[in-house]
Formats: sequence, structure tokens, C-alpha cells
Amino acid sequence: MGKRLGIIGAGKVGTTLGRLALAAGWEVRVCASPSRPLQAMIVETLLPGAQLLPEAEVVAASDIVVLAVPLSKATTVDLAGLSGKVVVDAMNHWYPVDGDLPGVGEARSSSHWVASLNPAMRLVKSLNHLGYHDMETDARPAGDPERRAVGAASDDVEARAAVAGLLDDLGFDPVELPAADGRHLEGDTPVFGRWVDAEGLRVAVERSRARR
Ligand SMILES: NC(=O)c1ccc[n+]([C@@H]2O[C@H](COP(=O)([O-])OP(=O)(O)OC[C@H]3O[C@@H](n4cnc5c(N)ncnc54)[C@H](OP(=O)(O)O)[C@@H]3O)[C@@H](O)[C@H]2O)c1
Repeated sequence: MGKRLGIIGAGKVGTTLGRLALAAGWEVRVCASPSRPLQAMIVETLLPGAQLLPEAEVVAASDIVVLAVPLSKATTVDLAGLSGKVVVDAMNHWYPVDGDLPGVGEARSSSHWVASLNPAMRLVKSLNHLGYHDMETDARPAGDPERRAVGAASDDVEARAAVAGLLDDLGFDPVELPAADGRHLEGDTPVFGRWVDAEGLRVAVERSRARR
């Protein structure tokens, strides 16, 4: 797996992840909202070194693509174009932003809903459970005792391992989980928004499993 990261959505999460990936030696390509006339300036300022490209070109030139748009905007992304790609779903159902989303509440996790939109994506739920500001401040080199853990939930073992490699490069200890555990990384769980190391994340997921 190469080190070419594509990011869809140049907002708080997209630009933060992009900076971490560039610092780790990844190539970063990003596509921003077409409704933002200043997108080039935003990317030049917040993500120097990344290439701003149309979505299809970002996808074609990337080994891993991160969905970093509001969940309510996921359907504005060409998800069909992501067939066969390793895709990180960093999105949360954030009610104040997204409101009610038909189908999401009934799904086992928001990622199960995203996966249902195109089952041919190699979807991995990850990076959704820490705030964008923590992504930058908590990233640490491998072996650092204060290294934070980040989950990667998917039943596609190869895709999950690829995302684990990305997480490690970004500065986090990856914890690989089955797709069903994705819901234990969501907003109302012990892991969400809390600093945990790898063991702490595993324990918190087990605790969350027992509650549901
Ligand atoms: N903020 C956090 O701390 C945090 C942490 C973890 C996960 N998340 C999740 O990560 C996702 C992104 O959050 P965020 O805080 O980065 O949001 P944000 O700052 O609002 O950024 C999202 C960006 O995506 C753009 N966008 C929307 N549709 C697009 C499309 N089809 N193609 C390209 N760009 C598009 C938006 O542009 P427009 O505004 O013009 O639509 C906006 O610039 C959300 O699902 C959120 O729940 C957030």
C-alpha cells in the first residue's frame, strides 16, 4: 500500500488530518466543497503542500480516501466512484449539524448506513472519536507512553490493516476492531472524545458492548 492520502472535505478534520499526513511523508490530495469560492486559498493556508483537485482526480490518485464531510453531505460525494477503494469514514451523526437523517438511526452504526450506500467501498470507520484539535495535539511518535489510541473498525481485514498503518504514521496506536464495534466508537460511548491508550480503548469497547 502506497502513501497517497485523498481527503474529501477541506474543513476542520480534513485540513488537520492532511497536515499530520504531510508531516508523516504522505502525499496529500484534497477536494473541497464546490460552494466555497475561497477553497484554493483555504487549502494553501491551512494545508500547504497538499494538492487541491477535483474529487475524481483525488480518488484516482489515492491509496486511502478519507470522508471528512458532514454526514448529511455524504450523499453529495460520488460514493460510486469509491468502489474498491479503502475509505476511512471519519463522519459522525452530529445532530446540530446534520439533523434527522432517515435510515441512519435504524442502522447499527452510521458507518453501516454509509456502507449501505455503496457496499463496494472498502469502508473502515476511524478517526471519528477524537476532536480535530486533539488530532494535532495528541499525535505522538511510536513508543511514546502518552500515545493515544484510535480505533479502526471494519470486517475487511486488509483495508483495516492499511488504515492501521495510516493511523500509526499519523501518530496514534491503531486498535483494529470488527465492523460491528464501530458503534462503540460513536458519540454516546466511553471512547468518544476521551484520551485512551490501546488497552484503554479495548476495555472501553468491551464495556460499551456489555451495555448494549
Ligand atoms: N470537528 C471535529 O472535531 C470532528 C472530529 C471527528 C469527526 N468529525 C466528523 O468529521 C466530519 C467533518 O467534520 P468537520 O468538523 O471537519 O466539518 P467542517 O469543518 O464543516 O468541514 C466539512 C467540509 O466538507 C465540505 N464538503 C461538504 N460536502 C462536500 C463535498 N461533496 N465534497 C467536498 N467537500 C465537501 C464542507 O463544505 P461546505 O460547508 O461548503 O458544505 C466543509 O468545508 C463530520 O462528519 C464530523 O462529524 C468531526
